[in-house]
Amino acid sequence: MGDMLTVKDLRVTFLDNNKEAIHGISFSMQEGERLGLVGESGSGKTVTAMAISGLIERSRVTINGDVIFGDTDLRRCSRSQLRAIQGPGIGVVFQEPMNSLNPLIKVGYQVEETLRIHTKKTPEERRKMAIDALDRVGLPNPDEIYSKYPHQLSGGQRQRAMIAAAMVIHPKLLICDEPTTALDVSVQAKILKLLKELSDEYKVGILLISHDLLVVKQLCERVAVMYKGNIVEQGDTMEIFNAPKDEYTRQLMAAIPKRRRK
Ligand SMILES: Nc1ncnc2c1ncn2[C@@H]1O[C@H](COP(=O)(O)OP(=O)(O)OP(=O)(O)O)[C@@H](O)[C@H]1O
Ligand SMILES: [Mg+2]
Repeated sequence: MGDMLTVKDLRVTFLDNNKEAIHGISFSMQEGERLGLVGESGSGKTVTAMAISGLIERSRVTINGDVIFGDTDLRRCSRSQLRAIQGPGIGVVFQEPMNSLNPLIKVGYQVEETLRIHTKKTPEERRKMAIDALDRVGLPNPDEIYSKYPHQLSGGQRQRAMIAAAMVIHPKLLICDEPTTALDVSVQAKILKLLKELSDEYKVGILLISHDLLVVKQLCERVAVMYKGNIVEQGDTMEIFNAPKDEYTRQLMAAIPKRRRK
C-alpha cells in the first residue's frame, strides 16, 4: 500500500521578507495514520500545515520540494484541482474556531459547506448529515446547535462544531493545528479522545500540530520534532518519548513538568 501523503524536501520562502521558513523537511503518512508535529513557537508547524493543505497564499511564497497526496502533486496542481481535494481529501481544524467559523452564518450551514461543494446531496440529506456530525462530536441537542450562530456556543462547542464541519465528509487526512490549545485541560482531553475515535472509526489520518509533546502522545503513534524550520527527529512516539536522540527533543521533554510525564 502506498503512502497517503509524502512530503519530500519541502522548502517554503516568504516573498515579502525573502525568508526561508521551512528548510527542506521530509516525512510521510500512511492511510489512517496519526502523526504529531511538535516544536516550539516559530519552528514552522503552521507554515508546514498551510503548505500541505494548499491554504497558503501561493502569491506570497515560493514552495519547493514535493507534496504528494495520493497520486496528486499538490504543488503543481491547478486551483480547481486543489479545491477538489480540500474537504473530501484534506480537512483542517485550527486553534481558534472563531477565526474559521463565519460569525454571521448559522453553524449548521457551515457544517454543510463541504457537502454543498463536493456532493449532490439534497438540502434535506445535507441537514441530516450535518446534524449527525454535530451529534457525533458530542454536542448536546444537535438540531438546536444546527440553527445557532457561532457566538452562541462555548469555545469547546465551537471547536467540536469545527471538527464536525471537517469530518462531515470523512476526509482522508485531517490536519489539526493546535486544536485544543485554547481550551481548558478537561475539554482538551475530551476533544483528543474524540479525534482518536473518529480517526479509528472512519480511517481518517490525522496530522496533529502541537507545541505540547504530551498532547501528541495521547493521539499519535508517530511524531516529528521541528526546530527552526527543520525536522530534527522523527519516529515512534513511545520510542522518542523514552529515548529522545536529538538535543532539542530532550529539551522539549525536560520542559514537561515531572508530574505530567507519568
Ligand atoms: N506570512 C509570513 N510572512 C513571513 N514570515 C512568516 C509568515 N508566517 C510565518 N512566518 C515565519 O515562519 C516561521 C514559522 O512560523 P509558524 O507560524 O509556522 O510557527 P509555528 O511553529 O506554527 O509557531 P506557533 O507554535 O507559535 O504557532 C516563523 O519564523 C515566522 O516568522
Ligand atoms: Mg502555529
